[in-house]
Amino acid sequence: MHFLCTFEQLQNTPIQTFDLMVENEQFPVILLLSEDKIRAYHNQCPHAWVPLNRADSNILSGCQQYLQCSSHFAQFNMLDGYCVYGPCQGRSLRRLGAQLVDSNIFIYL
Ligand code: FES
Repeated sequence: MHFLCTFEQLQNTPIQTFDLMVENEQFPVILLLSEDKIRAYHNQCPHAWVPLNRADSNILSGCQQYLQCSSHFAQFNMLDGYCVYGPCQGRSLRRLGAQLVDSNIFIYL
């Protein structure tokens, strides 16, 4: 279980990315609050296996409705991580378990 942030921090910034160190390797995570639910994904596109927001670019599409790869513009539903457009259409971001414990958000990898 890995601590990411407090629930208040997520309420203030409802889409956030984190780079965890897990067994000496970076593990990028997307954490978001959508429709009052906390969701977490492995921040790794199922097409070229890189984070959606390379070089700290924006992770949202222009319409703000989808998570978007900044390199090849694949778009993913926020609610389930399903790719609706782009080179990995029909595949999904890997969902991670998230848990709220005493106002702190933890994830399971
Ligand atoms: S890495 Fe998959 S769309 Fe960019």
